[in-house]
Amino acid sequence: MPGHFHNPVATCFGSGSLQHLRTLTEARTVALVTFAEARSLGLVDRVKHLLGERLVYIIEDVQPNPDVAQLRGTYERFWAEAGDCDMVIALGGGSAIDTAKALIVGTASGQFDELLGLLALGESFVPVRSKALIAVPTTAGTGSEVTPWATLWDTGQQKKYSLHLPCTWPVAAIVDPDLMLTVPAGVTVSTGLDALSHALEAIWNVNANPLSDTFAVSAIEDILDCLPSLRADLGCKVLRGRMALAALKAGMAFSNTKTALAHSISYEMTLRHGVPHGIACSFSLPLVLGLAWGRDRGRDQVLQRVFGDDLGQAQARLRGFLHGLGVKTEFADYGVPEAEARAMIASALQGARGKNFIGAQAA
Ligand SMILES: [Fe+2]
Repeated sequence: MPGHFHNPVATCFGSGSLQHLRTLTEARTVALVTFAEARSLGLVDRVKHLLGERLVYIIEDVQPNPDVAQLRGTYERFWAEAGDCDMVIALGGGSAIDTAKALIVGTASGQFDELLGLLALGESFVPVRSKALIAVPTTAGTGSEVTPWATLWDTGQQKKYSLHLPCTWPVAAIVDPDLMLTVPAGVTVSTGLDALSHALEAIWNVNANPLSDTFAVSAIEDILDCLPSLRADLGCKVLRGRMALAALKAGMAFSNTKTALAHSISYEMTLRHGVPHGIACSFSLPLVLGLAWGRDRGRDQVLQRVFGDDLGQAQARLRGFLHGLGVKTEFADYGVPEAEARAMIASALQGARGKNFIGAQAA
């Protein structure tokens, strides 16, 4: 097990921490990347108030699961119209942060297809220009604020691109649970389950280390305890704070391990069956727990810190937790027949994320 843990993101956490944007952007010019409802929620005005004339450009039409068809125009406009700005602030869920990560990686031509060509090679590269990124999540789930990873979708071609470069680590993350108070129940659940998946995937992972385990176990305990209560009391500041911290801890965990089999399965479930990310990467957790259990004594011990030493009970607890949140746990529930499910798992194990799974060799 590697003993090295690295995370370069300066993180501000807590109620009211949005105000740190003012000091973090001092003497810089800034572009804001956010989601369509941010303006009606008053978030664009709050950022304008904090930044004043430093805010020189706003992109406010980020779509869920950023797709290359839409990103192309946004990217090329951004570099043509705001190429001189110093920083980008991503304010929103995983889609806003992932979109911003794509935008900050500049190509020589300013053309988006040049970036896609580089990503298609699957190798690291040094971009000719880039921007500093500050990530401000408005959901408790993505973890993208403390990782360099971004997923870009090409639904037309039924494929996805994974972006991660040294420059796509945010320089700073601001995790302010007050920004999450208006998130509706469905998104609260799906994003919370994304965080649960990040934490579990960091444990059944060949890249796990003692520090990622510490973050992951703590995140799982918090989410199992807190998410059902939060779903029943969406305006509770204490519970929003606990879930925000849990999602941040899960993000810290997988910032060092990447995700594994459940996420690898999720990509096909999202592309082929339109299942939202948080559900697509969590419905299979009881199944993947069963595939992970017994593969590695050290990994079992970490899982048993949360679930005890009986696999059947552990899976039943996880299944019951998901069902209690209204999430179905079988492939058939999503219209995927058994043969297709088996093929999907086999193919997911061969994917980049699937290979991080501790059972990838033997499964
Ligand atoms: Fe995820």
